[in-house]
Amino acid sequence: MTTAARLPAGIAHPFSPAGRVDPYPAYTWLRTHDPVHRDPMTGMWLVTGYADCVALLKDPAFSAAAGQRERARDDDLPVSMLTSDGADHARLRAPGARLLGPAAMASIAGGLARDADALLERAGERGVLTDAVEQLGTPLATAVLARLFGLREEQRAPFQELARAVAVNLDPLAPPPLARLGRAAMGELTRYLDAHVDQALPSPLRDFAADGRLSRQEMLGVLGLSVVGGWQPLAESIGNALYWLLPRPEAREALRTAGGEAGAGEATADEAAAGEAAETAMDELLRLEAPIPFTARVTVRDADLPGGRIPAGSRVLAVLAAANRDPAVFTDPDRLVWDRSPNPHLAFGGGPHFCLAARLVRQSGAVLLTRLVRRFPAAALSDPEPRWAATLIPRRLTSLGVELHGAGSESHEPAEAARA
Ligand code: HEM
Repeated sequence: MTTAARLPAGIAHPFSPAGRVDPYPAYTWLRTHDPVHRDPMTGMWLVTGYADCVALLKDPAFSAAAGQRERARDDDLPVSMLTSDGADHARLRAPGARLLGPAAMASIAGGLARDADALLERAGERGVLTDAVEQLGTPLATAVLARLFGLREEQRAPFQELARAVAVNLDPLAPPPLARLGRAAMGELTRYLDAHVDQALPSPLRDFAADGRLSRQEMLGVLGLSVVGGWQPLAESIGNALYWLLPRPEAREALRTAGGEAGAGEATADEAAAGEAAETAMDELLRLEAPIPFTARVTVRDADLPGGRIPAGSRVLAVLAAANRDPAVFTDPDRLVWDRSPNPHLAFGGGPHFCLAARLVRQSGAVLLTRLVRRFPAAALSDPEPRWAATLIPRRLTSLGVELHGAGSESHEPAEAARA
């Protein structure tokens, strides 16, 4: 197929309002017919094949610095690891492990489990959640960052409002007035973090700040990036996960009983097995509905991918959400296979910029989902057809009603066709 290929009439462009709500028909067509596609509407290259995306994310011909600069805002932030390449990037990334790596997760795990229990306790008192993203995902994401950053209890609510205000910076198609507010909020967040660093409770942030390898501004860059790039995708990933999980009794039951029949919040010898099974499920849920559906690069020279050549100076999107459903790699790619293993999905990207918090995201999602299905084995969607928002990043539902008690969920199963 030549690079002049066009989406057939009747398949919505993935950036059009209809395509943003349901981009999968376009992704499937592109991946099948033109996996390295020059998009006539935007002039960008859309790379949708799995092998092509993997190659692109590893190839230094595709610059993240140049790719993300397109989105850079006058936000007082220094260059961050996401907007740098090569040695610069490695220097900025290495200390970030102290903030977001496995040891950081291990140190907050106990507190986070208590946060998840408290959240579910409150949710259970309500019985019906009008929006599980707002009532479970959002406070979970805030709890994760609060624990990492050593925030005090009373700092959580104002921090959450700041995180919400900067989240708009993720969406490349945010309307200009909103984008302006997002830029202003970014400056406010940076000042907030600057003032906070020296008063943080013992936490991964304290270790990170003591590391000494980054300047103050660079350190604030990593913290700011974690809030903008992490808070909303994590919150929304909980809604996306429940959307797929709750209507499927077999998946819910497998998650509930993995590692034995422990009660909610109960620590057992099988906790590790349960955690592993839940992380496997979380991976599959992220594969199916990647909260960050694509990421941008610019070619600094001509680049060859398995599916074709891209000339120097091109704007390129690695469409992770399309690669994640490539039948060449994933059997039954449009279905939830809750125990899929191996699961080399690209929801966390790949190559040198692979999400530094991937393990943390998997584990914190797993903590909440396991506890939820154990505490509420019959949890169900209360709205048979939740709607997807017309935003590009993150991929998210407009709202997600959930019933936490009552018998069975089969009667609420959303149309299978909507997800296949
Ligand atoms: C479901 C939630 C999340 C998803 C789907 C996700 C996904 C991603 C993806 C796709 C990238 C690569 C971007 C690129 O290559 O251009 C990335 C990078 C990154 N993510 Fe995440 N992320 C999530 C949550 C988080 C959280 C909670 C944090 C921090 C608290 C975080 C911190 C980072 C950082 C620091 C990078 C940059 C890594 C680098 O440039 O070397 N992410 N993430």
